[in-house]
Amino acid sequence: MGSLEGKVAIVTGAARGNGEAIARVIAREGGIVILTDILDLVFETAKDIGGTAEAYKMDVTSREDIHRVVTEVAEKHGHIDIMVNNAGISKPVPFLECSDESRDAHLKVMLLSSWVCCQEVLPYMVKQHYGRIVSISSVTGPITGEPGSSAYAMCKAGLIGLTKNLALEFAQDGITVNAIMPGYIRTSMVESVIEESNPGHGEEAIAAMGREIPVQRLGRPVEIGELVAFLASDKVGYLTGEAIVIDGGNQLVENHFMGTK
Ligand SMILES: NC(=O)c1ccc[n+]([C@@H]2O[C@H](COP(=O)([O-])OP(=O)(O)OC[C@H]3O[C@@H](n4cnc5c(N)ncnc54)[C@H](O)[C@@H]3O)[C@@H](O)[C@H]2O)c1
Repeated sequence: MGSLEGKVAIVTGAARGNGEAIARVIAREGGIVILTDILDLVFETAKDIGGTAEAYKMDVTSREDIHRVVTEVAEKHGHIDIMVNNAGISKPVPFLECSDESRDAHLKVMLLSSWVCCQEVLPYMVKQHYGRIVSISSVTGPITGEPGSSAYAMCKAGLIGLTKNLALEFAQDGITVNAIMPGYIRTSMVESVIEESNPGHGEEAIAAMGREIPVQRLGRPVEIGELVAFLASDKVGYLTGEAIVIDGGNQLVENHFMGTK
């Protein structure tokens, strides 16, 4: 029996990348996974996962969309046990050149969306006295900085604040609220940013990045999926309000070392 047997889980941004991997692990663990995304690709991804996986087209910047999907899922399955706030964008641009539109796009897709998703699912979780919320933050923002990523970093740091506050507010309702902070995971988001910064040399740049990371490679989306599935399981009733780094040791590295002798 899987660790998420019969649990109903909504995952945002699940058409590809980390969201797809999270959905695959939840399905493997016996969960009824509801894949949502702004892309039509989400239907193919859900079909490929098969079993009880379902797909909904849902733009996380639209409360109307989120309300519609959450209501339909609750009516169909009678409960919503797991909410994974994963949808994201990354459009790096130097701070002084970052438009209000770009800043607001990051805020809407990654921070305000999580606020709305939590507000929509929590009434069901409170009623059933059970829930698991997991948000995909990043090391960028809460722990580290990356030139050009101010808007992204602001959202990811804000997500940790939301996580901690909701964890406290719903601690007596059988609900845990946690976040994870990935480092570099090899998804299309990372590949396209690296390719744009190194036109025609993306692969070499990825290989060079891997050599700089203590475990000598970028992370795999399935590794994000496994951690999320753990935080979404019954095993974590006493673990709440936490944000866990998963980055192959990358944020441990200082720029300069004294040496060993
Ligand atoms: N890849 C990494 O190295 C890394 C590191 C830290 C955190 N993250 C986070 O992981 C999450 C997933 O990123 P990824 O790397 O898999 O990128 P990705 O681009 O492969 O996937 C992001 C998904 O979000 C969806 N999405 C974007 N805007 C949306 C909207 N308005 N409504 C619904 N869905 C929308 C996209 O269509 C896509 O399917 C993001 O929150 C990202 O910030 C990624």
